[in-house]
Amino acid sequence: MIQVQELSKSFHDPKRGTRLAVDHVSFEVREGEVFGLLGPNGAGKTTTLRMLGTLLKPTSGTASLNGFDIVRQPDLVRGQIGFLSGDMGLYGRLTPKETLEYFARLNGMSSERARARISQVFNLLDMTSFAGVRGDKLSTGMKQKTAIARAILHDPPVLILDEPTAGLDLPTARTIEEAVIGAKKSGKCILYSTHIMEEAEYLCDRIGVISDGKLRAIGTMEDLRRETGKQRLREIFLDLLGLAA
Ligand SMILES: Nc1ncnc2c1ncn2[C@@H]1O[C@H](COP(=O)(O)OP(=O)(O)O)[C@@H](O)[C@H]1O
Ligand SMILES: [Mg+2]
Repeated sequence: MIQVQELSKSFHDPKRGTRLAVDHVSFEVREGEVFGLLGPNGAGKTTTLRMLGTLLKPTSGTASLNGFDIVRQPDLVRGQIGFLSGDMGLYGRLTPKETLEYFARLNGMSSERARARISQVFNLLDMTSFAGVRGDKLSTGMKQKTAIARAILHDPPVLILDEPTAGLDLPTARTIEEAVIGAKKSGKCILYSTHIMEEAEYLCDRIGVISDGKLRAIGTMEDLRRETGKQRLREIFLDLLGLAA
């Protein structure tokens, strides 16, 4: 479903010069799979995901989603994905219900379909209790759930979620993780970035460890254990980053 080939992005920085934030990254994600991009701050996770979401043009390399090329067919790619990124603002004056109704209309859903799907998404993310509260009165977790609800509203086959649980309490994070597992079971293809070890271990079928723009290893927990000779993901992670004791 997602195929990434030698994807690279360089940024020019007056102090550091031209640097590769994403350095020839290749991987694939299948239907019914959660692929975790695990890396420290600044590793290149967001840049990778933004290129796949067609928000950023690659410097070189390419990727396809459900057969559509991110460089040549960005509009078709956008129709395939639900994209969640940290910097997506919500309208403070709108309630979650109004926000979703608005996006349903933008997506061309009939009002009947919108009503059914919104209620489904509210149940999935446990949002009914605050569906009618203004955006500017919502907690961080409620806002994040609203952003996720918006990203998955049109029921796309591919979900790209950039650190969806960052900064959230455990019950809220768990609701989101359960929704991701539900999506996976229904055959979605999910690309999920995180820097939280437990979450990657719990949620992901395969993990790609990224640091300094480079994919250091890709595989199941078993593959990564074999490759590094370590047991726990935090040891595996430190080993792959060259920081092992
Ligand atoms: N718009 C930009 N201009 C210049 N450098 C950037 C820009 N976006 C990201 N970077 C740099 O690219 C690297 C990777 O960043 P990012 O993809 O945000 O990492 P992560 O999401 O893994 O924390 C960092 O060194 C960051 O400073
Ligand atoms: Mg990031």
